[in-house]
Amino acid sequence: MSAPKTILCLASFEKGHAFLREAKRQGWTVYLLTSKSLEHAPWPRESLDDIFYIPDQDKEWKLDDALLGVSFLARRHRIDRIVALDDYDVETAAALREHLRVPGMGDTTARYFRDKLAMRVRAKEAGIPVPEFAPVINYDDLREYMRTVPGPWLLKPRFEASALGIKKIRREEDLWPALDALGDDQSYYVFERFVEGAVYHVDSIISERQVVFAIACRYGAPPMQVAHGGGIFSSRVLEYGSDDEQKLLAANATVLQAMGHVRGASHTEFIKSADGTFHFLETSARVGGANIMDLVEAASGLNLWAEWAKVETQEAAYRLPAVRRDYAGLLVSLARQEWPDLQAFDDPEVVLRIPKKYHVGLVWKSDSVARVEELQRKYIEKVQADYHASAPLPAKATE
Ligand SMILES: Nc1ncnc2c1ncn2[C@@H]1O[C@H](COP(=O)(O)OP(=O)(O)O)[C@@H](O)[C@H]1O
Ligand SMILES: [Mg+2]
Repeated sequence: MSAPKTILCLASFEKGHAFLREAKRQGWTVYLLTSKSLEHAPWPRESLDDIFYIPDQDKEWKLDDALLGVSFLARRHRIDRIVALDDYDVETAAALREHLRVPGMGDTTARYFRDKLAMRVRAKEAGIPVPEFAPVINYDDLREYMRTVPGPWLLKPRFEASALGIKKIRREEDLWPALDALGDDQSYYVFERFVEGAVYHVDSIISERQVVFAIACRYGAPPMQVAHGGGIFSSRVLEYGSDDEQKLLAANATVLQAMGHVRGASHTEFIKSADGTFHFLETSARVGGANIMDLVEAASGLNLWAEWAKVETQEAAYRLPAVRRDYAGLLVSLARQEWPDLQAFDDPEVVLRIPKKYHVGLVWKSDSVARVEELQRKYIEKVQADYHASAPLPAKATE
């Protein structure tokens, strides 16, 4: 038998335990590269052949530390695959692949999954509707843009997540002071039309450039409203075969193909405007955060992390297992209580009560889409009345 292959997993934040376990189960040698500050995190150490640390500043790494560290490691250990478990690790993983000539997504492709301006440009080229946008590069172009595209607009960081740093601009004269305040950072922003409407997400598994699994869901309140207005985060699976679901699955496949996703997971978002058009919002090469994987698992039986690990390690031999087509809902909210009583949510449909300090987190499932929707309404009301607390938005990502 040939020597086991080696996969190096990058995780500047603690996540992806199921990925690490599954990669080990597939017989690979599994290395984890993580932040020094996560040395004592409960990583699944029984599944790791070794674990390496990069000095970090609030989970941020210097690229050179990663390049030199991994190159040193590679002197003694051949590395066959490099994967980024967190969004913020996507560029680092791509730079490492380029440096060590490891196959997979390189710098150019990775950029489409991280840079909101690059993904806008690419999606538009592929004929997918996008909110009209302008780069924050040339002021004449911005003036011309505001003359032709009616506001309000959003000034949005190109490389952030979790609705961080997004500012709504209502009048032309409000843009310039906002840009002044950003100073030299302004070119790291994109300017785009605010599209009023519900926000949807499609979560996928991609194997050898094909979307082999995708599930379309609709957020309750739009994530920006939740982040900025202290609302309750919720989502639910759309009706299978419905017009919206079909349109979203088609748009998702076009987006992922256009961006050049090769293998792994993706979380992609769209906004539905008043005329029924789905506008591409963003894509990524990762598993959706905020317990979306639990929502997907409740509905389909698939663990997105584990499937991703199989796709990476099995390549062309990968086959999607049988998938259930149930409906599921998810709610996550800050709570006033340190350990809220989640047993109060005692409907038989509740399949997961997420234990987290000062949080309410629930997943429920049913074979009826109407029932899932009904429970979503009921739980939002109940959480609003008995549990909900809101906190100011952090300045940077916390998970
Ligand atoms: N052009 C837009 N029009 C309306 N809402 C938007 C627009 N862009 C972003 N948003 C809101 O902000 C949220 C976060 O934006 P998004 O582009 O998904 O970045 P991220 O989730 O990485 O922070 C979205 O879920 C949506 O609620
Ligand atoms: Mg988003």
